[in-house]
Amino acid sequence: MKPIYLDNASSSHPKPSCMLAGMQDYLLHIGANPNRGNHQLSQRGQQMVYETRELLSQFLGIGHPNKISFTYNATYAINTLLSGFLNPFDHIITSSYDHNAVVRPLHHLSKKANITYDVWKCDLKGQFNLADLEKLLTPKTRLLIFSHASNVIGSLIPLNEVAMFARKKKIAFALDCTQTAGHIDLELESLGIDMAAGTCHKALLGPTGLGFLYIKNPDLVSPFVQGGGGFLASSLDQPETSPAKFEAGTINFLGLSALNSSLKWLSVKKNEIRSHHQQLTQHLRYELLKIPGLILYGTDNNGSIPIISFNIKDIAPSLIESYLEINHQLIVRSGLQCAPLMHEALNTLPDGAVRVSLGPFNRATHVTKLVKALWDLKSYS
Ligand SMILES: Cc1ncc(COP(=O)(O)O)c(C=O)c1O
Repeated sequence: MKPIYLDNASSSHPKPSCMLAGMQDYLLHIGANPNRGNHQLSQRGQQMVYETRELLSQFLGIGHPNKISFTYNATYAINTLLSGFLNPFDHIITSSYDHNAVVRPLHHLSKKANITYDVWKCDLKGQFNLADLEKLLTPKTRLLIFSHASNVIGSLIPLNEVAMFARKKKIAFALDCTQTAGHIDLELESLGIDMAAGTCHKALLGPTGLGFLYIKNPDLVSPFVQGGGGFLASSLDQPETSPAKFEAGTINFLGLSALNSSLKWLSVKKNEIRSHHQQLTQHLRYELLKIPGLILYGTDNNGSIPIISFNIKDIAPSLIESYLEINHQLIVRSGLQCAPLMHEALNTLPDGAVRVSLGPFNRATHVTKLVKALWDLKSYS
């Protein structure tokens, strides 16, 4: 029996089948290294890369595709913006929603580079209060870095209010949109967001090994890595403009060709997929709430992304994960999901919770199977 994959917030699976054609196109018809040389294969590669930047910029709400640099993943993009923007003694604010991809680099910089940081905490339901954010400001606060969505409960931060707050206080705002890019049409430019980082293998339905970094003003961020890129080879300095500034060395061109195909597919299908996700998520929430002893985290707020986390009284989340896989071929993810601050807010440390995250290829029958399996588990326990 084929497993039913319900762990799309880790990495979406399956991908649209056209992604294979994108990879094949690169391998058979491009092959060469874009930006290296003026020959026809390199130029074809450059066109493909530019087109992919354009496609991605439409999902992110960016009018200048060259302000997007491709990285290996979101973690790399976040490390680049933190280490390239911060100075010793800066104060940073992050939030309960933030992933270890943000919190670990901040912790590291606090030990090595004398920065300090505070956490804007949400309540037990995952909701934030802007007055609490204001209380964390210090004269040294130079950056707010927040995940757009919780990767544990799927709820969103109040993005418009936070962006306005940052502008009013003249503090830079970086958004980690790893979980929302692809699920939600972002408006990074019109919201005046200074920097953003994300990954391409989740709701953007691309391959692993690709992330992105958006920097409104590249002069404010130094690159993490220096090296070649095909531009201005006579200079020993790294180029100062993006994307080249943040794309030292050969990047994942094979992956970009795959992403190109996925983004074209997603651009056509996105409305259908989003309402499908919403229906499945609401249905799953409704059914889970009927199971005695099941604790559902977060709220049912509209606009959230298709992630649900729960626990069942007196059963460890890791046991639920194993039971679902071994007995029913249902693949979910238990534990902390690299988000210990969120589990602290939900009072679910140290074991975390069971997370179900849906994707475009999940069907109502998958939800029905999961709910039935959980009722069966209740009847044994
Ligand atoms: C909110 C958030 N930020 C960052 C990351 C890190 O993404 P990547 O592993 O692609 O770098 C994740 C991954 O789950 C995430 O959920």
